[in-house]
Formats: sequence, structure tokens, C-alpha cells
Amino acid sequence: MSEISQAQSQYNYKVVRQFAIMTVVWGIVGMSAGVFIAAQLIWPELSFDLPWLTYSRLRPLHTNAVIFAFGGCALFATSYYIVQRTSQARLFSDKLAAFTFWGWQAVIVLAAVTLPLGITSSKEYAELEWPIDILIALVWIAYAIVFFGTVIKRKVSHIYVANWFLGAFIITVAVLHIGNSMAIPVSMTKSYSLYAGAVDAMMQWWYGHNAVGFFLTAGFLGMMYYFVPKQAERPVFSYRLSVVHFWALVSLYIWAGPHHLHYTALPDWTQSLGMVMSVILFVPSWGGMINGIMTLSGAWHKLRRDPVLRFLIVSLSFYGMSTFEGPMMAIKTVNALSHYTDWTVGHVHSGALGWVAMVSIGSLYHLIPVLFGKARMYSYTLVNIHFWLATIGVVLYIVAMWISGVMQGMMWRSINADGTLTYSFVESLEASYPFYFVRFLGGLCVVAGMLIMAYNVYRTVRGTEEHMYLETKPA
Ligand code: HEM
Ligand code: HEM
Repeated sequence: MSEISQAQSQYNYKVVRQFAIMTVVWGIVGMSAGVFIAAQLIWPELSFDLPWLTYSRLRPLHTNAVIFAFGGCALFATSYYIVQRTSQARLFSDKLAAFTFWGWQAVIVLAAVTLPLGITSSKEYAELEWPIDILIALVWIAYAIVFFGTVIKRKVSHIYVANWFLGAFIITVAVLHIGNSMAIPVSMTKSYSLYAGAVDAMMQWWYGHNAVGFFLTAGFLGMMYYFVPKQAERPVFSYRLSVVHFWALVSLYIWAGPHHLHYTALPDWTQSLGMVMSVILFVPSWGGMINGIMTLSGAWHKLRRDPVLRFLIVSLSFYGMSTFEGPMMAIKTVNALSHYTDWTVGHVHSGALGWVAMVSIGSLYHLIPVLFGKARMYSYTLVNIHFWLATIGVVLYIVAMWISGVMQGMMWRSINADGTLTYSFVESLEASYPFYFVRFLGGLCVVAGMLIMAYNVYRTVRGTEEHMYLETKPA
């Protein structure tokens, strides 16, 4: 029996394959929704006067689809793979794992139906109404049982650092989701938060920021700590640093939420605490970024040949960029300029598209051939084209938003000698249009790359004969 087919029977690859394929599918759906709402910001008539196509309803559809459908499926796929391989054990329960797959897809479909209908709790990144929240909680608890059950039955004594990050992500997201979603239902489609006023805002951003810290960061760092060394064929640069990175990150992130609520009714000291913790957070974030990139030391030449590795390393550069920018924006005086502007949106996408999407795509290009028992991806030329489309797309997006964001902030605070505002809001909006168009173009590049990926994945999965492959695996 070959090594690949042995692994196929020893481990549960079925659920990993299912989640991996759905990552690509939801990636295309969620990012296309992003392009559509980017277009609506330029051409508002694209809502066709239909309530379920209004920007306000499609925007949360985009965020839910990219974060929870695309990002979530990528995290499920890679965590189930990593925990099995590094524990040398099959998943704790095949049935529960299958439940997490079908349950999660049901959550996504329910989100896709309810959000355009305007059914929402109106809490950002937690918009789904209470029956769906309960389903999410059930799926998540099943996920925790499968993941930690597998860690417990591991055949090696050591728990590899990637599992620490993934474990922290799973536990924290359960606590955040259950804590923030506490609500009193008044009908099947409407509920009111258990919290009120400033407390509600603080709960929401304790959740919101840690959704970023644990869903969009810790989980993907787990992915990074497994796939970067694998693809580079090198051990992690410093294992000790990865452990310090882990403890520093999990103990700091949880305090940083109030930076989303500067200059609000939140007590002043909580805002200052959130600011200080956010600034300190820069240190472990960069420690982790450097640890990932330096894993390549002595093997830099591989970057020239291997587009998969390029995806992974460039994603780390965007991680570094967004975790430099974030602490800076958390400083109250900087936030006074950046808040409510496109600068925030640029920051979001340098993290979400540059880091989260690119590390997921790189990991999938590593994983797909392994999962489907193929020697390599169908075409590395197509992977390379995807890499350039994604990189150019992200750069167009974030540079456009930086410029329009800082411009908006400056225009809004500009005052005449007599104390009146120099610019009306509409003038700042008009000035933003060219940048919205550049973002739209960037988004088109990103989606084009995803479509190429889907084709490449299809051909890889379908390919039967060695000679069908266009090129050899990059050295
Ligand atoms: C083709 C790629 C993408 C395009 C064109 C796109 C476009 C957009 C647009 C137009 C907005 C609304 C901005 C506003 O209200 O001013 C938005 C918001 C957002 N997107 Fe994307 N997006 C893309 C990919 C992604 C990905 C991959 C993620 C996450 C993994 C993501 C996460 C978000 C989040 C979290 C927000 C809310 C930002 C905030 O509230 O400040 N996007 N996106
Ligand atoms: C050291 C790390 C980071 C810090 C200190 C940080 C800080 C901040 C700050 C200050 C804001 C603006 C809040 C406001 O004015 O409303 C923000 C917004 C945001 N950041 Fe970060 N950031 C970090 C990393 C990241 C990363 C890596 C991602 C994505 C993967 C990310 C995603 C977001 C999102 C989605 C928002 C928008 C939230 C909203 O208003 O809807 N951040 N961040």
C-alpha cells in the first residue's frame, strides 16, 4: 500500500475533503458578493429597488460568507487535517465530524436566506437570529469534542504548537459566541439582546474584536505553523518563540476590544486599557510573523520556484502589515481620524484578504493533492497566475482605501476660520468615488483568481493519469 493510500484509510480525510472543496465554493460566493457591494457603492442603482438586494442587507451577507463560510470551512478542513496528522490518530468521531460539516453548511445556507430577507439581530459579525445561533453553538460544541477528543487519543506525547492555536480558537469562539448571543426571543425571527446600552456595546466588541483575534487570527496562525514548515520543508524557525507567541497572543487579545469604542459612552479607563493592550499586541504579532517568515531561512530560493510558498509567505507579510496598522489605529488620537472612514475598511482587508484568504489559499494548494491522492496540483502556472491576481487585487484594494480613508478623515475635520465645516459630507463622498472604482477592480482580480483556483482544483481532483499533469511539482 502506498504512503498516500495508507494515510487515506488511517485518517478521516472525507470530512477534510468536503470542507476543503466548500472553502473554494464559499470563497467564490463571498468574494463575488464583496465585488457586488463594492459596485453598489459606485452604482447604487444596482440594488434594482429590491429590498433584498439593498446594500445594507448584502453587506452582512458578504461578511458572513467570507468570514464564516469561506474562513470557517478553511479552518475546519485544516484543523481536522492538522490534528490527525500531528496526533497520528484518526478523528475522535467520524459521525460527529460529519455532523459539523452538514451543520455548518446548514448555518451558511440559513444565513444566505435570512440576511437578504432583513432578518438580523443587527450585531456586527453576529447578525444571525437566535435559532441559527443555537445551531452554531451545537456545531461548535461538536467541533470541540472532535478536536480535543483527537488530541486526547493522540499516539505521540507532544502536542504540536499548531494545535495550541487551533484549540484556543475553538474554546474562545465558543465562549464569545454563547456570551454575545444571549438574547430574549420574541418570535422565531426576532430577539432582543440580554444586554443594554453601553454594556451591550462592550459585549459586542469584546466578541467582535476577539472574533478577529481568535477566528481570523489564532486559527489561521495554527494553519500557518503547520503549512509553512511543510511547504518549505524546514522546521519552524524557533519553536520556543512559537510557544511565547501563543501565550502572549491569547493573554493580550482578549483585552483589546474597547479600541472599537473610542470616544463613546464606554468608561474612559476601559478605552485607555484597550488602547494600551492593543499597542502591546504588536510585539507578539510581529514575533509570530517573523517566526513564520524566518522558517524559510536558508531556503529563500524556494520562493522563486514555488507559488504555493509565495502565497504563504506573502500572507505573513500582510499579517505583519495589518498588525502594525491595527495597534497604530488603536491609539485614540489616530482613531479620531481613522474611525468611520475607509481606512478601517482598508485595514480589515489587508488582514482579511491579504492574510486570512492568502494563507488559506496557500494551505489548500498544499492540501488538495494530498487529500485526493494526487502527486501535485494540475497546474502550477495557474497557481502562479492566481498568486499575482490575488496580490495585485489586495494591493489595489488596500491602497485605494488608505488614500480615500485618510482623505475622508482630513476633509471631515477641516474647518474654516469662522468654525464652519470646509466640506459637506457629499463632497467627501464624491471625492471617494475614484477609489471605490479602484477597489472594485481589485476585487475583480481577486475573484478571477478564485475562479482559476476552482478550475485547477477541479482538474486536480478529476485527473487520473500522471501524464495529465502539465508540469512537475516545483522544487
Ligand atoms: C473580492 C474580495 C473582496 C471584496 C471586493 C470585498 C469588498 C467589501 C466591501 C465593499 C465592503 C464594505 C465596505 C464598506 O462598508 O464601506 C466589505 C466589508 C468587509 N469585508 Fe470584504 N471584500 C472582499 C473580501 C473579503 C474577505 C476575504 C474577507 C474576510 C475573510 C472580508 C471581510 C470583510 C469585513 C470583515 C468587512 C466589514 C468591514 C468593516 O465593518 O469595517 N472581505 N468588503
Ligand atoms: C495587533 C493586531 C490588531 C490590532 C491592535 C487591531 C486594531 C484595530 C482597530 C483599532 C480597528 C478600528 C476600530 C474602529 O475604529 O472602529 C480595527 C478594525 C478591524 N480590524 Fe483590526 N487590528 C489588528 C489586527 C487585525 C487583523 C489581523 C484582522 C483581520 C484578519 C483585523 C480585522 C479587523 C476588522 C474586521 C475590523 C473592523 C471592525 C468593524 O468595525 O467592523 N484586525 N482593528
